[in-house]
This record gives sequence, C-alpha cells and structure tokens, in this order.
Amino acid sequence: MIDYTNAIEDISRYLFNAQTNIGVREQHLIGSGAVTELESKIKMFYDSKFALCVTNATNALFFVAQSCNLHDCEVITTPLTFPGTISGLLSLNCRFHFTDLDENLNICPISVREILKRNPKVSAIIAVDFAGTPHQMDEIRKIANEFKLIYISDAAQSLGATINSNKASSLSDVWVTSFCPGKTLFTGEGACIMTNSEIIYNNLLLSTQHVYRQKKELGLNIVNEFSFNGRINPLAAILANSIFEQSIKQLKKHQNQCLKIVKHLNNMGLISSFENDFKSTFFHFYIKPLKNIESQEIIENLTNKYSLLKIRIPSVTLLPDLIVKKNVASFEYKKSVVKKISQTLEISTH
Ligand SMILES: Cc1ncc(COP(=O)(O)O)c(C=O)c1O
Repeated sequence: MIDYTNAIEDISRYLFNAQTNIGVREQHLIGSGAVTELESKIKMFYDSKFALCVTNATNALFFVAQSCNLHDCEVITTPLTFPGTISGLLSLNCRFHFTDLDENLNICPISVREILKRNPKVSAIIAVDFAGTPHQMDEIRKIANEFKLIYISDAAQSLGATINSNKASSLSDVWVTSFCPGKTLFTGEGACIMTNSEIIYNNLLLSTQHVYRQKKELGLNIVNEFSFNGRINPLAAILANSIFEQSIKQLKKHQNQCLKIVKHLNNMGLISSFENDFKSTFFHFYIKPLKNIESQEIIENLTNKYSLLKIRIPSVTLLPDLIVKKNVASFEYKKSVVKKISQTLEISTH
C-alpha cells in the first residue's frame, strides 16, 4: 500500500501558499515548481532528453499526432489496445493498417513489414506495450529507420517495464505514459510525453502549454496564443512527486509476485518456458497455457497456492471492429489475432 502522509502534507502546503503567493499559483503556467520536478524525475527514469506532463494519455496521443503532423495519414498499429491509443489519430482523419500480433499479443514486426511492402504511403507506426508487456522495440525501431517512418509508442500501461535492459518504448521517437487508475503511478488523471526530439518537444510546447511557458522555453517571439490547455493539474504533479519512488517499489513487488506465479506454472508444466529478456508491469497478467491444458487445471493449481486469483479468457474488443470502415485501411490478420487471444488466459492477482 502507498503511504500518502507526505503527499497530503505537500498538497496542503501548496494550497496554503498559493492563496497568498501568485508566484506559487502560476508555477505550472510558467513551467516550474512541481510539474518541472516531475518532468525531471521522468526524464531521469527514462533517460530521455525531454518530458512534458499533460492532462491524460488519450489527449497526449492526440497532441503527439498533431505535433508530428499526422493529418489524413496512413498509420500502422496493433488491433489489440485500449481505444484511446488511436482516438487522436481518428480525429485527425487517419486511416489504419492493423497488424497481426506476436506471441506477447503486441504489434508483430513481421506483419508491419508485410504491410509496408504493399502500402508505400504509410507515415507512422503506433506501437503499444499491451498489458504492460514491452513490444519488440528493437525491431520496430529498425523498420522505422529503414522506411523513414515516425515511431510513436503508447506506453500507458508500461511505466517500469523493461526489454533487453531498456525501458519499454524508450527507443521510439515519442512515447506516452499514463497516471490514470491502475497504472504504475496513480494520480487520479495525468500523463507524460517523452521524446529525444527537440522539434517534437517544441511543437508539443506550442500546442499544449500556456504562453508563459512557451515564452520561457522558446523565446519571446515564438508563441501560439491559441494552444490547447494540455497542462497537468499541479496537484496531480505534487502527488506524483511524493509517491514516485514508492510506486516504483510497489510495482517491483507486484512484478515479483507475478513472476513467482509464472515460475510456479512453468515448474508444473502448465505453461511453456518464460522468455526473460523482458519484464512486464503485468498491468494485465496474461499467460498462455500449453496445448490441451484446461484452464480448470491452472485455476486449481494456483488457487491452492495463491489467494485472490481469478482466471478468465481476456474480454477484449479489437479496434477494427470498433471504428468505421472508412478508417480501416487494411486488416488481413483477423483470424490469427482472434486465435492468439483465445489461447490466452488472464489472471487477476488482486
Ligand atoms: C494502452 C492505453 N492507452 C491509452 C490509455 C488512455 O490513458 P488515459 O486514461 O490517461 O487517457 C490507456 C488507459 O488505460 C491505456 O491502457
């Protein structure tokens, strides 16, 4: 459990000081105070050049799409994700090529290549660390370089996940993590956008931040008076700063508990050997039973040993079934995707 004692004190102090001190009230407009502190923590965590905190991940992905000029474009993405991954792109009139899934139910690099062979007009790849499991970032990075595509990642569920010793999604051109319920860092609402590109960061500043911050970071002459308000609530930033380290520790405990369950199932011969070049946040905890093993056998095996477990086939809806036809540029892998999902079980640990 997270201890909120310090967070509550920090929030009370801020609110008290903000009543009498306009400088404190306007810190987050200017780009200082708690928001800047949180952005520094996140830059350090991901080892990224830039981090920009915003309202939530759905809006963040919209701001990113805008800042990368993805209007009326063709985009490659996974069919299996939270709809917010593409809400922004849909509103910018983009059309989607949906890939097959890899063994971890993430975007499949082989089908990304297949799609690119047939569709030279594609502008970007949107990858997702679905269920908190890192997608194949090295492969997608290679493809994006080779075909000169913008590579965006939705890392909403994967703060604290790693692959080949890198933080999940951190090889993308720009990636987004969320602080909404259930995520590694929970602040009610909130999100952060990370990038190593100064151009993308500057575009994001101009489209989401108050002119005070635009002027402070970009100079007095370059301002967009008509920006959106994408700012994170400063109270969420104060909370995030207070609980950041605790939240990462708590995630590690959760990861270890999930890995114990995986090892147990593995030792019992119920699932295949576990690849350990990555560490998931286990935002959703998915396993793939070996052929002919009934979920009942797994349930009995686990409930004898671990309390509070529920097991079910994941209830997911595929994106191409949710959006209108004119936005689906292609989805040739539906059968394979449905089969892979039906072979998966979701375990609840709490
Ligand atoms: C993969 C994914 N993308 C985007 C979002 C949207 O995040 P937010 O609620 O911060 O808008 C979520 C939220 O759960 C998510 O899981």
